[in-house]
Amino acid sequence: MPTDTQFATDWLEERYRFDVAARNPKVEAACLQYFAQHPMVSIIDIGAGTGANFIYLSEKFPQSQQWALVELNPNLLKRARERLKIWAAAKDYTVREDGQNLDFRRNDQHIQVQLLQGSFLELPRLLQPDQYQMVTASAVFDLLCEQMLSDLVQTFHQNRLALLTTLNYESMAYLPADAEDDHWIRLYETHMQREQDFGKALGPRCSDFLEKEYAQLPTAQMLRAPSRWQIEPADTFMHGHMLQFLEQSLLEMKSMGHSGKGLDAWLQRKKVQLQSQQLRLSVAHSDFFTAPVYEG
Ligand SMILES: C[S@@+](CC[C@H](N)C(=O)[O-])C[C@H]1O[C@@H](n2cnc3c(N)ncnc32)[C@H](O)[C@@H]1O
Repeated sequence: MPTDTQFATDWLEERYRFDVAARNPKVEAACLQYFAQHPMVSIIDIGAGTGANFIYLSEKFPQSQQWALVELNPNLLKRARERLKIWAAAKDYTVREDGQNLDFRRNDQHIQVQLLQGSFLELPRLLQPDQYQMVTASAVFDLLCEQMLSDLVQTFHQNRLALLTTLNYESMAYLPADAEDDHWIRLYETHMQREQDFGKALGPRCSDFLEKEYAQLPTAQMLRAPSRWQIEPADTFMHGHMLQFLEQSLLEMKSMGHSGKGLDAWLQRKKVQLQSQQLRLSVAHSDFFTAPVYEG
């Protein structure tokens, strides 16, 4: 498998409300404004997971829509189908299902969704990119290596696709701060960028890299702004997930020869703070919207 697709459905669903709260309103407004005069909008969601990006964004567009949800992991795509049907029924859409297509109608609004299992690294094999107006990707680009993201940007550019990408990881900070936080968080970020079969994932360098790639291309507009998760002491599940990711990654770094001295004690201090409802975590991400010079 070229990129990481082993994401648990409960984790993707847990992070949803943090993603919603974090999304940058200026970046979102720029995207909605760009399409405001279009009677219909067509969007490719790459790395769609369980459909979170569709569920969030489709309600923001008042017009009819055509979506392609591209996801490599068939279990996540199966869950996306279920989630979208539940969502549509709750929003009073009439739902029709035909193979990989879902069709939602409410009053004059018509939303067509195609669920496509495959790799977005081979997008033109799955669909005709020039038949769409925008690509969206949430919490995806930091998983990719430079070459992958660079090739995708070229595909978007050649097909005159706008791009809305959200929740690209940048950094994290715990409160109360611990003298060892910096060391372990840096090592966690080194793990994100470790050598994998496909190369080194961009991790926290993703947004800078994306911005540099687009700076070399003509664009009608380009906007990057922060989107931050605030994980409060009462958000115990989310803290639990984050601590588990840190622990797994840091243990893997230890097995690769990095010193694990002090790791157990550091994790233990975090767990005690979590239990006594003192732990806060702020995770910085960034959102990005860019529009092509010519409309597709
Ligand atoms: C962190 S999850 C984000 C999921 C979703 N966008 C969300 O906001 O909840 C990253 C997603 O990208 C998918 N993915 C990773 N590499 C992929 C590829 N090459 N082609 C298609 N999907 C991929 C993973 O399976 C996973 O569902």
